[in-house]
Amino acid sequence: MSINTAPSADHVAIIMDGNGRWARHRGLDRLEGHIKGVDRVREIVRAAPGYGIGHLTVFAFSTENWKRSEHEVTGLMSLFRRYIRGEAMTLHEDNVRVRFIGRRDQLDNRLDTLMKWLERLTSKNNGLQLTVALNYGGRDEISRAVQRIARAVQQGMLQPDDLSEGTISNFLDTAELPDPDLIVRTSGEHRTSNFLPWQSCYAEYVFIDTAWPDFNVSEFVRVLNIFRNRDRRFGDVISL
Ligand code: IPE
Ligand code: IPE
Ligand code: MG
Repeated sequence: MSINTAPSADHVAIIMDGNGRWARHRGLDRLEGHIKGVDRVREIVRAAPGYGIGHLTVFAFSTENWKRSEHEVTGLMSLFRRYIRGEAMTLHEDNVRVRFIGRRDQLDNRLDTLMKWLERLTSKNNGLQLTVALNYGGRDEISRAVQRIARAVQQGMLQPDDLSEGTISNFLDTAELPDPDLIVRTSGEHRTSNFLPWQSCYAEYVFIDTAWPDFNVSEFVRVLNIFRNRDRRFGDVISL
């Protein structure tokens, strides 16, 4: 077998879908699927650096997910708090830097405080750069960025003619991150559901049928290998 020398993905982003269906197929409450999903996040975070991944971004809750039942939304928010409390020290010891992207002002204070605490605790870590998209929506992110750009123009800090692609990137929640190389969506849906629309314009997408609670490290490796066999051209011609 020949050795694949194609570069591995530096920034992998994951739309972790299928928790609810996974639970329903087992006659369980949807929250049981989310709880199992958190175990998978822990495993993938641990494994990622071993596969050359520098940045991992996971979609945990979208700006559209508030439409769900109060039982599910409350359960998810309490699961996020429990995840932060339970994982903080391990993440810190593993040199993981954690950032959150998404809209903060709609989250309850207890969760927001924990998020800020974890970001501060891990802010100097230079291992895996883990980004959790929580109450994240790409259109919401772009709207907030445009508001801030408009304010900067109004205050004379920016000239309209100086606005470039780079300026827009710098005003997004992801300003400090490289664009994703690979976006994975689990559980059979072939859509992006408002995840990183600006940043993903040259990402490779891999859609797989496995539900997120079944997404183990060997599934992860399978997906990384699919990426390595893709030919990324960025508008250029094939290099033979
Ligand atoms: C993804 O799983 C997790 C969140 C959106 C919070 P889902 O809860 O969307 O699971 P399905 O798609 O209903 O199976
Ligand atoms: C996207 O999944 C959001 C997360 C994975 C957090 P959804 O399950 O909410 O997306 P749709 O509704 O199927 O498009
Ligand atoms: Mg879903």
